[in-house]
Amino acid sequence: MINLKTKHEIELMLTAGRLLNSVVEEMKAACEPGVTTGDLDRLADGLIRQGGARPGFLGYQDYPKSTCISVNDEVVHGIPGRRAIHEGDIVSLDLGLVLDGFWADMGCTVPVGRVSPEALRLIRVTEESFWAGMEKAQAGNRLGDLSAAIQSHVEAAGYSVVRQFVGHGIGRNMHEDPQVPNFGTPGTGPELRPGMTLAIEPMVNAGSYDVYIKPDGWTVMTADGKLSAYFEHTVAITPDGPRILTLGEAEGAQGLKATG
Ligand code: MF3
Ligand code: CO
Repeated sequence: MINLKTKHEIELMLTAGRLLNSVVEEMKAACEPGVTTGDLDRLADGLIRQGGARPGFLGYQDYPKSTCISVNDEVVHGIPGRRAIHEGDIVSLDLGLVLDGFWADMGCTVPVGRVSPEALRLIRVTEESFWAGMEKAQAGNRLGDLSAAIQSHVEAAGYSVVRQFVGHGIGRNMHEDPQVPNFGTPGTGPELRPGMTLAIEPMVNAGSYDVYIKPDGWTVMTADGKLSAYFEHTVAITPDGPRILTLGEAEGAQGLKATG
C-alpha cells in the first residue's frame, strides 16, 4: 500500500531532510586520508543527536551503527569501524535520521584526495543517473519510467545497476511501498502521484551487477572486486514536479529542481 503524504507531512520530512543534508556535508568534509570510518560514524551520530533527531539506522534490524560507510568495492551497508580511508579511495556515505516521526535518507560517494579518472567517472555517472530518474519523477508517469531512465543512463556509460538492492518509499518508516528499482521497463509499475515520497538511490557497479554479502551479515560487495558508487536523495512527487527533501537550506530555497 502506497502511503501518500499531506503537504504538512512533506514539510516535516523537509525539515528532517535539511538536517540530514547538513550532517552529510560535515561528513563529506571529514573524509580525509587517515580518518577511520568509525570516526566518521561518531561525527554523524553526534550531529544528528545535536539536531534533536534520532540516528535511524542504529538498531534497525539490529544494525550496529548510525551510518553505513562503504569503501571502494563495498557497494552499500558497510559497517563503520577501525578501517582508515586512504587517498585514492572512494567512500559511500549513507545515513538516515528520524525527526518528529519522519525519516530522511540520503547519501553519496566521496573521492578521498586524488582518485583515478575511472573512479571519478563512475561517481559522476552515478549522480547523473539519479538526475535522469528525477526527470521522469513526474505525477502521471509510471515508476518504471523512472527506473528505466536510471538504468539506461548507467548502461550507456558501460556500467551496471545493482539488482539485489533497490530504493524505496519512505515516511514514518524508512522502508515503505513502493520499491524503487534502478532498472525496469517504461510504462510499467505504479503510477506516480502527488504525495508519494521516495528514496531514489542508484547503486552502480563499474563491472558486473553481481554482489555478495560479507560474513558480517551486512556489507554488500561487488562480486568481481571492481568499484561501486551510490547516490541517494529523499524526493517528494508534487503537482509541480519532483522536490528533493534532502537538500541544504540554501539549495532547498530554490525549491523545485528539474535537472542537475
Ligand atoms: N539507505 C539504506 C536503505 O535505504 C540503508 C539502510 S540499512 C540500515 O536501505 F540497516 F543501516 F539501516
Ligand atoms: Co535508502
